Amino acid sequence: MGLEAQEAIDRLCVVVPDVPSAGILFRDLTPVFSDAAAFRTIIDALSEPFAGEFDAVAGVEARGFLLAGAVAYATGTGVVAIRKAGKLPRSVYREAYDLEYGQAELEIHQSDLPAGARVLVLDDVLATGGTLAAACALLERAGAVVAACAVVLEIDGLGGRDALAERTLHTLHSV
Ligand code: PRP
Repeated sequence: MGLEAQEAIDRLCVVVPDVPSAGILFRDLTPVFSDAAAFRTIIDALSEPFAGEFDAVAGVEARGFLLAGAVAYATGTGVVAIRKAGKLPRSVYREAYDLEYGQAELEIHQSDLPAGARVLVLDDVLATGGTLAAACALLERAGAVVAACAVVLEIDGLGGRDALAERTLHTLHSV
């Protein structure tokens, strides 16, 4: 499974130079998601190490949503949306974080999860780790337990693994 996921990512991920700014290589995983066999492979590979260890799956807006919904359905769990600021209609917790290119805020509904729910947190890419660290902090503020974080692609050399040093982290591939 691990090698199969790596092969699919190598074959289908498109590297786009100078996006979103000069000198940055944008790793576009959308062709991995739109290939039926590759999508099934990565969805299964994201959750398999944690079978039976989580009650819900959280996805980070926007591409994390595509992963979290599929993993939740495949594993018979619920899905939680961690959204960019200003989108959720009820009371939220909010965390500001630094991005590889800029700053942003994430929010979670205060009451979407029962206390103590064990959550697998998913996103497409790990770069600096700011996004996933903020997502984990939000889940804990909401009373959940972070079972693990899993991403499709880790960008080496940007500190993401260090930012999540106290978390269980599963990455399908790294570049
Ligand atoms: C990208 C990516 C991760 C995050 C990783 O999302 O999808 O969520 O950056 O970066 P980090 O590890 O440095 O925090 P982006 O913020 O571009 O938002 P989008 O998915 O809505 O395009």
